[in-house]
Order: sequence, then structure tokens, then C-alpha cells
Amino acid sequence: MAVGVFDSGLGGLTVLDAVSKRLPDVPFVYLGDNKHAPYGVRDADDVYTLTCAATERLWDAGCDLVILACNTASAAALRRMQESWIPREKRVLGVFVPLIEALTERQWGDNSPPREVAVQHVALFATPATVRSRAFQRELAFRAIGVDVEAQACGGLVDAIEEGDMILAEALVRSHVDALKRKMPDPQAAILGCTHYPLMQEIFQDALGPEVAVYSQANLVAESLADYLVRHPSMTGSGADSKFLTTGDPKRVSDHATQFLRRRIQFEAA
Ligand code: DGL
Repeated sequence: MAVGVFDSGLGGLTVLDAVSKRLPDVPFVYLGDNKHAPYGVRDADDVYTLTCAATERLWDAGCDLVILACNTASAAALRRMQESWIPREKRVLGVFVPLIEALTERQWGDNSPPREVAVQHVALFATPATVRSRAFQRELAFRAIGVDVEAQACGGLVDAIEEGDMILAEALVRSHVDALKRKMPDPQAAILGCTHYPLMQEIFQDALGPEVAVYSQANLVAESLADYLVRHPSMTGSGADSKFLTTGDPKRVSDHATQFLRRRIQFEAA
């Protein structure tokens, strides 16, 4: 009854941590495509091909339901996968709809027409590919009116995090927040639209200031998944064990993952 969790690298571990705390009895198989990270600088075709390959690997591991814990894959590939590629008995879900539902004060599956919401000035921090896709703005426009979104592509940040260079990562967060504030001086809310960024959440909050509400995905996705599994209990596949798979070097990836999550994580080759 395992559920698959996929990211280009280590960022999806922030989501994995939250879903495993929320659903302690569900085994999760995590797959990091570290060999091909970062996805955020790739074009949409490339992200689509890599995401399909990773999803198939998780289906092979007995996970009929796969969570794309990667905004870049969710933004650049998910719609195309759902339209033409995913077989009827499998499901692939993305991570940014739960976030947008929280921002727009909606319950899961509330498809009523777009309406005015409390926040009007929203800063979006994401990878270049996610920003280019405009998927956040599209999903937001289905649900809210009058929300001004300023997007900041955070070039270099995922590489720095994957490399474990937290000094560079902090400097990049501060300069991307500065760049955003030049375009939108007073955002009311900020979306961390990349699952790597919660690892830098305190720096984002510090650079943005205490008055800005910072939304990150992990807990919101965990709640949505719990809700989904109540409504679709048969969607957990045949896999029985939790494990961590990587397309990269298992030792190196395990060491970085352990450093991030501050508990021992052992990856094996995918
Ligand atoms: N953590 C991913 C995301 O949420 C991927 C970033 C990347 O590989 O560039 O977008």
C-alpha cells in the first residue's frame, strides 16, 4: 500500500517528512532524480520526459499513486501527463493546488467561480521553469480575482541547496528577495513555490520581514493527501516498504539528505 513521492532531488523530502508524520501507517517510496537535478533550468519537454520516467519507476515499486513533490514537474509536465499518458488505474497528483486552495481560502475540490480573497499582493518564489510556465497564475485565476502576483525566478538556489552550500543559498535568497521587493515593495504573502525552499524558510521570512505571511507546501500537501486517501482508499498500490531511491550517487545523496533532515536517511540506487 505504498505511495510514491517524487522530486528532482532533495527538496521533496520536506513534503515526505510532513506526509509521513501525518500518515504514519502509510509506507512511502521516495525517488530523487538527483542525477538530472536541477529541473528548473530545463525546458518543458525535458522535464516531461524525466518526470514520466521517474513516475514509471515508482509504479514499478508498487506505488499506484505518485505525488510530484516538485513544483517544476507539477507546473511543466503534470497537465500533459494527465491528458495523454497516465493509465486509468494510476494517479499522479501535483503539489501546488493545495497551496493555492489555502491562499484562496478554499476547501479541497471547491470549484465555485473565482472570488475576491483577503490577500491582494502575492510574491511567488520558484524555479525559472515554474515561473515560465505561469501555472501558479493560471491555477490562481481559476479561484481568485484581483490578486496581483509578482514572480521571482530564483536562479542558482536549487543547485546551492543540492550541493549543501548553505552560505551561497542564504546569499541567493536575500538577493532574490531584494529583487522581488524592487518590483513589489509590500507583498502581503509569499509563496515558496519550490519544495527545496522550505529548507531556507527562516531566511526567506527574515529577508521578507515579519509582516509577510510565508506559505510553504509540506503541511498543506500532507492534509490534502490524507483527505484524498480517505476518499480513495484503494489508491495505495501493492508496495509494502518505505524506501529512498535515487538516480544519483546513493552515498553522497544520503549524506546531504541526512544533513537537511537532521536524521539518518539511507538512499539506494533507483
Ligand atoms: N524541488 C523542485 C521544485 O519544487 C525542483 C527544483 C529543481 O530541480 O530545479 O520545483
